[in-house]
Amino acid sequence: MNANVARLMNKQINMEYFSAFLYLAMAEWLLQNDYVGASHWMFVQYREELNHAEGIVQYLRRVGEPVELEVLEKPKKDFDSILSVFQEALAHEELITASINEIVTAAMEAKDYSSVKFLDWYVMEQVEEEENQKDNILGVECAHGHAAALMHFDAKLGTRVFTPEPIPFIN
Ligand SMILES: [Fe+2]
Ligand SMILES: [Fe+2]
Repeated sequence: MNANVARLMNKQINMEYFSAFLYLAMAEWLLQNDYVGASHWMFVQYREELNHAEGIVQYLRRVGEPVELEVLEKPKKDFDSILSVFQEALAHEELITASINEIVTAAMEAKDYSSVKFLDWYVMEQVEEEENQKDNILGVECAHGHAAALMHFDAKLGTRVFTPEPIPFIN
């Protein structure tokens, strides 16, 4: 594998594990602030992120490229509101999208077409991830601070079911 592509893939593994850490921290804040449903939603997202990281680990293993694990940054644990949790999650996903796009560009430049194809799943997944956070922001905003409406939205988030995603080389 091209050295730059390999470096970016390893960096992405760290970013996906950090995403898991960040969403687990958000799930904790939400739970401590009595948003039980939203906390459950974020906990499901935490589990998805673990799989995103593992997908890249598995891909590198399949192509014989060594996996290099780095130290994880400490996630923040205090947030201003449930709205700011989702806004920060969206900002984070936008960062992840930019990072995935950067690897695709590097893989294309290196004519590494298997990596380009592998990353296809991640490119499309980012559309969904950004969409999810936008829906969450809208859901909180629509409640306009009314406790009953917010509780109703929180209960809806609590129904999210973890379903393993069709990540290449996983499941
Ligand atoms: Fe992810
Ligand atoms: Fe997802």
